Amino acid sequence: MAGPAAAALLELSNVTKRFGGVAALDGVTFSAAKGEILGIIGPNGAGKTTLLNCISGVYRLDGGDIRWQGASIAGMAPHRVARLGIGRTFQVVKPFQSMTVRENAAIGALFGSTEAHLPPRQAFERADEVLELVGLAHKSALPVTALTIPDRKRLEVARAVATNPRLLLLDEVMAGLNHVEIDEALEMVRAVHATGVTIVLIEHVMRVIVGVCDRAIVLHFGQVLAEGEPSKVLRDERVIEAYLGERYARQQRGG
Ligand SMILES: Nc1ncnc2c1ncn2[C@@H]1O[C@H](COP(=O)(O)OP(=O)(O)O)[C@@H](O)[C@H]1O
Ligand SMILES: [Mg+2]
Repeated sequence: MAGPAAAALLELSNVTKRFGGVAALDGVTFSAAKGEILGIIGPNGAGKTTLLNCISGVYRLDGGDIRWQGASIAGMAPHRVARLGIGRTFQVVKPFQSMTVRENAAIGALFGSTEAHLPPRQAFERADEVLELVGLAHKSALPVTALTIPDRKRLEVARAVATNPRLLLLDEVMAGLNHVEIDEALEMVRAVHATGVTIVLIEHVMRVIVGVCDRAIVLHFGQVLAEGEPSKVLRDERVIEAYLGERYARQQRGG
């Protein structure tokens, strides 16, 4: 398991990102160790998606640094960050509508992370592998438009995994899923992790964080409010006050 002595794959130090006068991220410091599943939680607007956008090069930092295996990647363009082996999903899923599931997955492999992008035939082989991994193999010939919401999320993960990342950033891939679908999605995350991929996942569902994460970080108003073993973090008084009280109450009511 990842401890302080484990090699950090990704390190953020004092990462700050402002939009106008608002600091969406305000001095965020943490690291992700090789092989771990790190969960990031926090209320809407806490800065979680901004954090992924900063790591993946979509946004430029206003302060601080991000290091990948010890070298700074701050200011690097998204395609270069991806090529280093940092894959991601998007909170708003946008598959290529006119293509099949298999073709969409192959896109990931065609424009993947590895030095040489895969030629088309191998890209389709890779697509078949990742569709099997995420449980979509039996739907690979369908048009994307025929997919249910949970299947679209699976495809989004497949597309990211097809790029062959060493680190995978997942942005709320389980939002809107029911209990059974969440269990299936947890299996999917475990299956991807078992292939040797380090995972940072943003989720709102506490069962996901406790069920699959080695460690959790709570973001609140762009700052790290708490960090540690998931079940311990979820019992932290400040976390309960800032966030969980309201959300737990809603989950108890079945919302
Ligand atoms: N592109 C943007 N332009 C302006 N404000 C933004 C932008 N992206 C995010 N924000 C603001 O930054 C804060 C954090 O947003 P976000 O990272 O999306 O939160 P979360 O993903 O935790 O819900 C919010 O106040 C949001 O309105
Ligand atoms: Mg978000």
